[in-house]
Parts: sequence; structure tokens; C-alpha cells
Amino acid sequence: MASGSTQADPGDGGPLGGVAECEQLDPIDAAVTPSRRVLVTGASGFIAGHLLPRLASRGHRVRAMWRGREGPARTSAPGIDWVEGDVTRPDTLGRATFECDVIVHLAGCSAAEPGSSLEQVNVAGTRNLLVAGLDAGVQRIVYVSALGACPTAGPYFRSRFQAEDAVMSSGIEHVILRPAVVYGPSDHFVTSILALLRKLPVFPMLGDGTFRLQPIAVEDLVDALTQSVERPDVEGGLYEVAGPDRISFTSIVRTVGEVADLRRPILPLPDGVASPVTRLARSAGFATPFTREQLDVLRWGSVLSGEDNPLRSVFRVKPLPFRDALEDYLSSGPEGPTGGSRSGGAT
Ligand SMILES: NC(=O)c1ccc[n+]([C@@H]2O[C@H](COP(=O)([O-])OP(=O)(O)OC[C@H]3O[C@@H](n4cnc5c(N)ncnc54)[C@H](OP(=O)(O)O)[C@@H]3O)[C@@H](O)[C@H]2O)c1
Repeated sequence: MASGSTQADPGDGGPLGGVAECEQLDPIDAAVTPSRRVLVTGASGFIAGHLLPRLASRGHRVRAMWRGREGPARTSAPGIDWVEGDVTRPDTLGRATFECDVIVHLAGCSAAEPGSSLEQVNVAGTRNLLVAGLDAGVQRIVYVSALGACPTAGPYFRSRFQAEDAVMSSGIEHVILRPAVVYGPSDHFVTSILALLRKLPVFPMLGDGTFRLQPIAVEDLVDALTQSVERPDVEGGLYEVAGPDRISFTSIVRTVGEVADLRRPILPLPDGVASPVTRLARSAGFATPFTREQLDVLRWGSVLSGEDNPLRSVFRVKPLPFRDALEDYLSSGPEGPTGGSRSGGAT
């Protein structure tokens, strides 16, 4: 599926094989936009932890919306104000959206929490936000969906597709990004792999690890998000964005083990064994960050649907190779911009 209707340079799809083949791309400072009041939802999450300081450093006035719950870290930097809000509670959204120009909508979940469903948070929550945004006169919404969003896939990808549909028919200017799995300091993905490598003498691979992923470094996604806030010409686009490498999940685990000096044998667990082992491990108090459901989400939303990567062709970002970015990320320690990893699913 894909990409946008407003590509700046459609001829620059380029091979996705690696950074050596990339030419030097224009820096994003090419986009010149006045400072805006930007509401970021899901502000206590991983991606927002990287986006908030970037937006503030570019002169935007940032309002960070969180649910005010105990636990999640909050990025503090000049230019960032925090406001409480819950997308499933419309009464909380008027204050959050008041006098905002742009919303970056990151609040969402890949697995339902007790007492709420994917539909309530991802679909109805997005609709609630759009209504509040229209009332407040918001000019643009940047929606972070997920690679693989589709009306006929499982509940997660269906909820993403329905939310995209709501955004596109809202009447508000929009930009939709569908990222592949995102990694970087304080992420869910590499942090979960590291947790297993640290705790166990072998890495239990639930099912077949040969499916390919195209992980995107969080700083690359943040570049694309910043431009989605600032650039008039990307409006109306739906862009799949991913890293340069298409690598099997098994290779990713091996690479993380090598870079972190935690090499472990990989133990494949066939489908019939995986579920009982996961249940047993949970009942014994072991963390099992990759459940069958989370792996299904990873497997479906895995690689770009075509050869073009709008991260390069539209956003002019030279995507960071997985191993290089991982080396940087692990050499600077596991602490992220908000000071530590969070619990949560793989996506
Ligand atoms: N990370 C990835 O690999 C990846 C890939 C593709 C798409 N995405 C999507 O991109 C978005 C951001 O990802 P992320 O990794 O930063 O996710 P994250 O760390 O799990 O953060 C999700 C955020 O959503 C908030 N949230 C959940 N339910 C909410 C509600 N009812 N009202 C308001 N806020 C709510 C959470 O708030 P609390 O802190 O209060 O729980 C949290 O701040 C998510 O929608 C995610 O599904 C992520």
C-alpha cells in the first residue's frame, strides 16, 4: 500500500540495500515553517520521549498530553507543557487541544488494556480527538499508524486502518505515517530482546524466526514526524517508513546479542510448544516480552509493501542501518531521553 500523494521527489526511491548506496540527502532544515503550538498525545511513550525535545528545540510550543498515571516517565525540557488527557474521555480533550495548530497523535496501543479495547483506544479515541481538534480549530493532524494497517487483518491492524480512515475523512489537514517496528533508547523492541538475553542462557524463539523486519531508528522517525508538522507539501500523504535493512527476526536477535556482548544460542520453540511454555514461564514469574500475539503483530507489519521508502524519497532522510544505530544506542547506555525503559509490548 502506500505512499503519499505529495512526494517531493518520486524518482528517488533508490535501492534499500544499505547506506553505502545512498547519496547525501538534503537536511530537513530545508523546511522552513514558523513556530507552531503542537499537541503531542501519547507523550509519556517511547516515540514521544524522542519527539518532544526535538519539536521544542525547533522552536515549537509543545503541549504534551498524558494520562497522569503513576509510572510513565515524563520528558522535561524548556518549551514543553504537560496536560492530562485520555482519548477515551472526550471531556478531557478540550483543554488539551485548546489553541493548538497541529496534533501529533501517538496515543494508542497494540494490545488492549484491562477495561478497554483496541477499538475504544485506537479508533474511538482517534475520533474523539478529531472532534476536539475540529472544535479547537486545529489545522493539521499527524497520525502515527502502523505498517500493515489493513481492514481485513487482525484486530490491531484493522483498528489502525479504521483510525486512518477517520483521520482522512475528518476535514482536517493530515499526514499519516505507517512506521515499521521502531527501535532506540527506551524502546520496547530491542529492550525486550535484551531482557531475554540477559535473563536466560538461550533465546527462546516462539515459532519461526525467519520472517523479515525492517526496523526504523527512532531518530529517523522523529525526523519524518518533525517534517510532517512543518512541511506544507507532505499534507494529505500516507507514507510507509522503514529502515534500510530487511532482516530476519533471528538475525536481529543475533545482532543484538553480538553488539551487547550477550551471545546466546537461539532455541526455536515450535507452535505446539510455544504457548504452554509461555504460560509456564509467566506462572513461574519470568518475563515473556514476546507473546504469540505480539509476534503476529511484528510478522504482519514487517517490511515496506514496495521498493520505495518515503523516508528517503519524501522526507530526504538517509535511514540508519540497524547495526550502526544499535551500536550507538547501546554504547550510550540503555537510558533514553526520559531516563529509562518502559514496560509494554513489542510495538
Ligand atoms: N514503537 C513501535 O515500534 C511502533 C511501531 C508502529 C506504530 N507504533 C505506534 O506509535 C504510537 C507510539 O508508539 P510508542 O512506541 O511510543 O508507544 P508507547 O510507548 O506504548 O506509548 C503509547 C502512549 O499512548 C498512551 N495511551 C494509551 N492509551 C491512551 C489513552 N486512552 N489516552 C491517552 N493516551 C493513551 C500511553 O499512555 P500511558 O503512558 O498513560 O500508558 C503512552 O503514552 C503508538 O500508537 C504505537 O502503537 C509504534
